[in-house]
Amino acid sequence: MNVLEAIAARRSVREYTDRPVSRETIEQLLSAAVQAPSARNAQNWAFGVIQGRDRVREMGERARVACLAELDRQGVTGDFRDRLADPNVQPFHGAAALIVIYATTQDQFATINCSLAAQNLMLAATELGLGTCWIGIAAPLFNDPDTKRELGVAEDYLAVAPLILGYPAGDTPRRPKNPPQILFWQQ
Ligand SMILES: Cc1cc2nc3c(=O)[nH]c(=O)nc-3n(C[C@H](O)[C@H](O)[C@H](O)COP(=O)(O)O)c2cc1C
Repeated sequence: MNVLEAIAARRSVREYTDRPVSRETIEQLLSAAVQAPSARNAQNWAFGVIQGRDRVREMGERARVACLAELDRQGVTGDFRDRLADPNVQPFHGAAALIVIYATTQDQFATINCSLAAQNLMLAATELGLGTCWIGIAAPLFNDPDTKRELGVAEDYLAVAPLILGYPAGDTPRRPKNPPQILFWQQ
């Protein structure tokens, strides 16, 4: 699979088999992540890994509760909030592993750099036959000071990209993508 093929094949996967993801595979993904470009080559990212379906599911439940609490704190109402209130919702979709990418500094490029590392990781995962999905709703959990303390993450690190991964159960249809909107193309 070349890079263009990986870009075309990547999907946000929300159904996984129970096949575990090995430590070696996760190390390969992290190596791909850190090849990403970063402003001034700052490489201001760090990673947390949770392996094992049960532990991931448990963190998913905590992520659901933390996100719901955050939405309620902000006074957000509506379908999205109400769906999260359902205790049967599994935000980590039965994934076998979770990787959280943290920004280790707070400069203007930190979250951009982490997002580039995340995309590298997701494309590398595609090449290795894994599915991934960025789970933005898990950010409140991983940015919670108590959770950081529990996981040994510095207080001032920012959880940017919680990524679930695992072996996909079946095919995920391609989401429709708009053609590029070209604002200028001078010659
Ligand atoms: C910043 C970000 C946050 C996201 N948060 C979630 C999320 O909380 N839950 C989820 O199921 N998918 C989440 N996604 C996945 C998007 O829904 C998905 O990328 C989009 O629907 C396009 O589908 P595709 O990735 O298969 O092309 C997130 C994606 C990004 C980039």
